[in-house]
Amino acid sequence: MIRCKNTIFVLETQNTQYVLGVDKYGYNHHLHWGKKCDINDFCTPQIGDQNSNHSMLDAFRQEYTPFGKTMYRGCAVKAEFFDGCREINLKYDGYAQKDDCLELQFSDTVYPLAITLHYQTYADCDIISRWVTVKNNGDTPIYFEKLCSAEFNLPSANPYTFKNTNGAWGGENIETNTLLEGGAWVNESRRGISGHNQSPYFIAYQNADEKSGDVYFATLAYSGNFKVKAERDLFGKTRIILGMNDFDFRFQLNAGETFDTPKVFCGYTQGFGEMSRQMHKFAVENILPKSHNDKLLPVLYNSWEATEFDVNCENQTALAKIAAEIGVELFVMDDGWFGKRNNDRAGLGDWFVNREKFPNGLDALINQVNALGMDFGIWVEPEMVNADSDLFRAHPDWTYHYDTREACELRNQRVLNMTREDVQEYVFNCLHTLLSEHNIKYIKWDMNRPFSETGAENLECPQMLWYLHTKAVYDIVDQLKALHPDVAIESCASGGGRTDYGALMHFDQVWTSDNTDAIDRMVIQKGYSLLKPIKTMRAWVTDINWYNKPCTLDFRFNIAMQGALGIGGNLTKYTEKDLEICKKNISLYKQIRPLVQFGKLYRNMDIDKDEILFNQYVNAEKTESVAFIAANGTRFYKKSVPMRFSGLDEQKRYTLSINGKTYEKSGAYLMNVGIDLEVRGADYNRIILINQV
Ligand code: DGJ
Repeated sequence: MIRCKNTIFVLETQNTQYVLGVDKYGYNHHLHWGKKCDINDFCTPQIGDQNSNHSMLDAFRQEYTPFGKTMYRGCAVKAEFFDGCREINLKYDGYAQKDDCLELQFSDTVYPLAITLHYQTYADCDIISRWVTVKNNGDTPIYFEKLCSAEFNLPSANPYTFKNTNGAWGGENIETNTLLEGGAWVNESRRGISGHNQSPYFIAYQNADEKSGDVYFATLAYSGNFKVKAERDLFGKTRIILGMNDFDFRFQLNAGETFDTPKVFCGYTQGFGEMSRQMHKFAVENILPKSHNDKLLPVLYNSWEATEFDVNCENQTALAKIAAEIGVELFVMDDGWFGKRNNDRAGLGDWFVNREKFPNGLDALINQVNALGMDFGIWVEPEMVNADSDLFRAHPDWTYHYDTREACELRNQRVLNMTREDVQEYVFNCLHTLLSEHNIKYIKWDMNRPFSETGAENLECPQMLWYLHTKAVYDIVDQLKALHPDVAIESCASGGGRTDYGALMHFDQVWTSDNTDAIDRMVIQKGYSLLKPIKTMRAWVTDINWYNKPCTLDFRFNIAMQGALGIGGNLTKYTEKDLEICKKNISLYKQIRPLVQFGKLYRNMDIDKDEILFNQYVNAEKTESVAFIAANGTRFYKKSVPMRFSGLDEQKRYTLSINGKTYEKSGAYLMNVGIDLEVRGADYNRIILINQV
């Protein structure tokens, strides 16, 4: 709900309130974010006196700060006009409100720039969306040096701790917590994609844990270079700005043009658990593409770890037959099926089938997969080219490059200049043809290297390639989805390099990490679950145990079944007993997947803090739940650990079985007393079904 009282604007969701205002000078003020207050108490404060040591613009809380006057802290927008002036001075022009949307309109006092701040409330998810529109009403270009999506102000004068998920390839989503007492905290990407290393969001908290404490969060829906910067001043004011990174940034807005920044989704909760549950629900209902957001994800098999580049009709058919026997629903052939792709040195860009590997074409395999009762999916890496490819030989100028610089070849490949229309057409046509000519129901869209030598002669303002590349990817994915609505598309970038909310607005699911080691996945998946929905998190059971002792197959299933289950091991090497374990677990997963993919997640215990991972998923009616317990060997003779459940109805009675013993207990008992378990031994794992009596 949105209420407007003179120049005070109040946005309300079920449990939160966000208040802003404008004053007679045209300044926009941030007034409140958090629990609900009486709206009659709010007014815009007087901007105090300033002197040479105290800038009033640095001191007051703004919703969106333009660069100019005596503003020295980080700003949200900075532009250069035709005559070289690089300051923006805004005046307030008015507002518009319709249903759950509010816009505040401002324009420069001299130059033909209009800036609109947008807000949209999602009341039942307790989420607010923010973005900004800039419009050039003049007849010469305006160049932005900074153009962020939103600015936030936190209420307490005491320092906040900032949680983010930093990491690297093979170690995505590892939580970090940084207390910001003074100075600045920055999370960013300069790689062209959001990347594995830092995440485009902030989670700022005080005294918080899973169930309590103030938690403020906001995530940027953008897969390109981003920057999240928080600053805390001497007076205890903490501000955060999120948006496209201003690193190597210059954005040309031509006469008459309008541009919408990427959106930001934000919220305030008590505890991290509620934050995750709200964002999961919000993403599934409002963010994910509508073609698949409400559908259960199939159990997939992926060939990468079994056959790598060495795919052919025989070995894929052999894998497919076993996959079908154990209950797989979607068979995905990964890298290696096209061009001269026998290793990572050749073939990228040549999206036609390799006839040596598939003499009778792709359909020979697809028909067999379909006959086995499974859908077929395929891997592509459309934004890339190997120098050793027909595409590169025909179009050596189709990559980002400088004539005077040698190309850095990471994984022996270069990045296609996706800002060129001819490149976009080529990529789109290849994929559209592939999907039109074959019965393909799933695409794994990979992206295996960051940008370098970012020259783009085709652009008047070459720095725009950072944004235009991401836009081109989104546009092609959207066009393909419109023409092939039954095809699901997965976002992969060397594992989890592109799993941000921008990707989630266009892709149906993501590849979480190339690290499929079950022990490491316990941590990686937890980090993922903080803000991103479980439904999108692909998790495979594989044969890989990278750095740890091998885990049992049941243990590996326990971990992978806590996401969108996939199988990636070399099934031709599995024993009959192994295959029986696969069959049993896949069948159980099919039974519980509505809970996992659409339920509410409760992180009851944390592997890092508690030595035990104890996650629980509960349906909306609180009639069914599934709990996963896993521990990789506990210390200190853990004979009796009270396992207290969450999210149930205190009044309802439930049955559950653990270790062959059946219990019938009230929700109140299960949540407040719990069941004592001996959590000991290697690869301890249990899956507990909880049903209302
Ligand atoms: C990186 C992906 O993350 C892997 O799953 C696999 O698809 C390889 N690329 C293939 O080259």
